Amino acid sequence: MKEPDSGELDTIVAQRSSALEGEVRIGGAKNSVLKLMAACLLAEGRHMLANVPDISDVTLMCELLEAMGVTVTRADHRLVIDVPEELDTAAPYHLVERMRASIVVLGPLLARFGKARVALPGGDDFGPRPIDMHLRALESLGAVFSTAHGDISGTAEVLTGTEVVLEYPSVGATENVLMAAVRAKGRTLIHNPAREPEISDLVSFLNQMGAQVGWAGDRLAVDGVERLAPARSTDGYRVMPDRIEAATFLAAVGMCGGSLFLRDAVADHMTMLIRKLSEMEVRIVSDAAGVRATATGRLSSADVSTLPYPGLATDYKPFLVSMLTTASGVGIVTENIFTGRFRYIDELRRMGADIRTEGHHAVVRGTERLSGAPVRAHDIRAGAALVVAGLAAEGETEVAGATHIDRGYENLVSKLAGIGATITRR
Ligand code: EPU
Repeated sequence: MKEPDSGELDTIVAQRSSALEGEVRIGGAKNSVLKLMAACLLAEGRHMLANVPDISDVTLMCELLEAMGVTVTRADHRLVIDVPEELDTAAPYHLVERMRASIVVLGPLLARFGKARVALPGGDDFGPRPIDMHLRALESLGAVFSTAHGDISGTAEVLTGTEVVLEYPSVGATENVLMAAVRAKGRTLIHNPAREPEISDLVSFLNQMGAQVGWAGDRLAVDGVERLAPARSTDGYRVMPDRIEAATFLAAVGMCGGSLFLRDAVADHMTMLIRKLSEMEVRIVSDAAGVRATATGRLSSADVSTLPYPGLATDYKPFLVSMLTTASGVGIVTENIFTGRFRYIDELRRMGADIRTEGHHAVVRGTERLSGAPVRAHDIRAGAALVVAGLAAEGETEVAGATHIDRGYENLVSKLAGIGATITRR
């Protein structure tokens, strides 16, 4: 698990870098693999996943599964997950607190064992992270919940297919209700589900396990089955590529200039982002092997507004904000998903960025040059966006808190160094 550029070294030092050139391979998607791992709980037996990124959130999810009695073997970007017949259906606080995505074990546990106890996730750097929609959706299938001592306990004698209406297309709520509905009695129709590519990856994994899930227009139609079994594939189910990791490198080439090929990146998963980057004058072409991005000269500003998929993902926003700090003109950025997700802007200001925030809007006035400074990563994407900004800043930028970045990136430093960035970890 230790990477040559990670270990106990918690600071990434980025220096102003000239044009980035070469190729980077994009790894498996964090926000897919964590859910696929949870989905394994739905069936006893040996599950295999391939293209699993070597990131610390995967380590945490392994720990969570192991705490329940699952045996996980990890090597060579593969996971072998042996799920026994009986499991401890409790997800303890010390793990849930470190990774909010742990909540997605709720649906599979209820579906398979009729009970689950999961510590309530607290807030985080984006602000509060409620799970009310997860619970309401599961209740509509017949689950009953109570809370005590910081845990949420659910029971379900039987889950029955029904019409589930999500008032907002929450990614996590869609995943939880989907993983419960696959073993419910009868048909569930999920109205207003999240439609992120990671949801489609989960749907195809579940279908390979024997589930019957399909898209009915914008809705998800789930015909419950009695039993699921591990997906049959000799090489393991291949996790989809990480579109947010791809966005990180697109931002880096946008800010530093140059030409990069992102092997395995899927342009169809990033249509809105590619459109936005084109507006900002990053040229992008793609084929089945990946995405090529080229940037020369100063970028142009553009307005950015985050929305559920197929809109512009909130996870792209820190990278777009970094790019806007040195683009010519003014960009207005509106955050519609996580209202607290502007905190890292204070760090960019320390680097000379001209950004004014007002509620969930930020006005970014491009300056010719950022100025390297010590800054701190408070979450995965904001941290990576500071690293990218550091590559375009005069002098040296020290990004402390790099272990946050490790939660979602495998070898970010060596991948960037491999395409010509001046970057190290200490
Ligand atoms: N929300 C509620 N109630 C709920 C669920 C969500 O009010 O019951 C609100 C949230 O507070 C938030 C909004 O709905 O304001 C969106 O939340 P959503 O449930 O869609 O997000 P999530 O499942 O918690 C996943 C990703 C995030 C990504 C969001 C949005 C994972 C592990 N996380 O979170 O990714 O930003 O979807 O696309 O899949 C990251 O990778 O660093 C990351 C934070």
